[in-house]
Amino acid sequence: MTANTHVSVLLAESVAALAIQPAGIYVDATFGRGGHSRAILAALGPQGRLIALDRDPAAIVAGASITDPRFTLVHAAFSELGAVLDRLGIGQVDGVLLDIGVSSPQLNTPERGMSFRFDAPLDMRMDTTQGETAAEFLARASQSEIERVVRDYGEERFAHAIAKALVAARGEHGISGTGQLAALVAQVVRTREPGQHPATRTFQALRIHVNRELEELSLALPRAVERLAPGGRLAVISFHSLEDRIVKRFMRDAAHPPQPPKRVPLRAADLPQPVMSLVGKPIFPAEAEIAANPRCRSAVLRVAEKLGNPPGPLSGKGGDRPDAGPPQGRAGQKHGAAQRRTTVTPAHGRGPGGGSH
Ligand SMILES: C[S@@+](CC[C@H](N)C(=O)[O-])C[C@H]1O[C@@H](n2cnc3c(N)ncnc32)[C@H](O)[C@@H]1O
Repeated sequence: MTANTHVSVLLAESVAALAIQPAGIYVDATFGRGGHSRAILAALGPQGRLIALDRDPAAIVAGASITDPRFTLVHAAFSELGAVLDRLGIGQVDGVLLDIGVSSPQLNTPERGMSFRFDAPLDMRMDTTQGETAAEFLARASQSEIERVVRDYGEERFAHAIAKALVAARGEHGISGTGQLAALVAQVVRTREPGQHPATRTFQALRIHVNRELEELSLALPRAVERLAPGGRLAVISFHSLEDRIVKRFMRDAAHPPQPPKRVPLRAADLPQPVMSLVGKPIFPAEAEIAANPRCRSAVLRVAEKLGNPPGPLSGKGGDRPDAGPPQGRAGQKHGAAQRRTTVTPAHGRGPGGGSH
């Protein structure tokens, strides 16, 4: 594998989970190096359409090699999904995939500053065109702010000692290199899980903070659901427990919304209604995938389906679907597609002529 390649995780499982309709409109909100996008394009028919997003300019450059007229790649954060679809004149979509986290090229390119394996400037931004770098954050943040970030996003029990050491060391010139940061952290973190570098958790924490990764995810999930047509699928692959907790809670609440206390006098129709149904159980990579690509070992795929009003045969009656695969049989697919067509609003109809943007 070269520095610029990325092995897609749970590829077949996530594309199957989208239950692709040949003429549907899909969003790959994390293009990366396009492994999932290419598989979605392969499953789509000539009338289908795929919109892909990535906040990393290097991903956008890599995506220029896909010249398929059904494909549109946009440099944007996935929290901007709604605005991107508005700009493209698209109302509803049939599926959204989020494969969150970092790509291998981001980790393997020293100057991205995301890895302690190289000595490089401490950048860590996915979108290198804007925002504060990790070095800038460490130069200006208070000790308690650094401690909070390292503790909350790195789940690091030595957060206090690390923050204290970083503030003491930053002096006039700050902490500008990954090597310097890794060495400082290693001085105060004396015990670690076997095989884990002492700075692993601190690097993860700073990266999550610099890229607002959890905020982005929390914003993107409801925005994706807002744009899904009834029967449309949301498939999310996450890589650590902080992300997975957000996805799991979001999907659970969308499928089983918390109800007010029984004594509150509300009519049944005024109670919070489910907007999604869960599709199957969480899916983990198989042993063979983990053996071939150890980075995927912590991945988990969760899938949910947008409910219609009234619910159609694809979306069930609010009960959770047992499978993550496509709907049963062609008849089911045709019905699903027909149902979706009717939900595209005239104001935001499908993009011009299948869209070659
Ligand atoms: C795990 S990689 C995706 C790999 C891709 N599925 C593939 O098969 O090549 C995650 C990608 O999501 C992008 N990303 C992460 N957070 C993002 C956000 N908030 N908005 C847009 N893109 C984001 C990263 O820049 C990275 O390229």
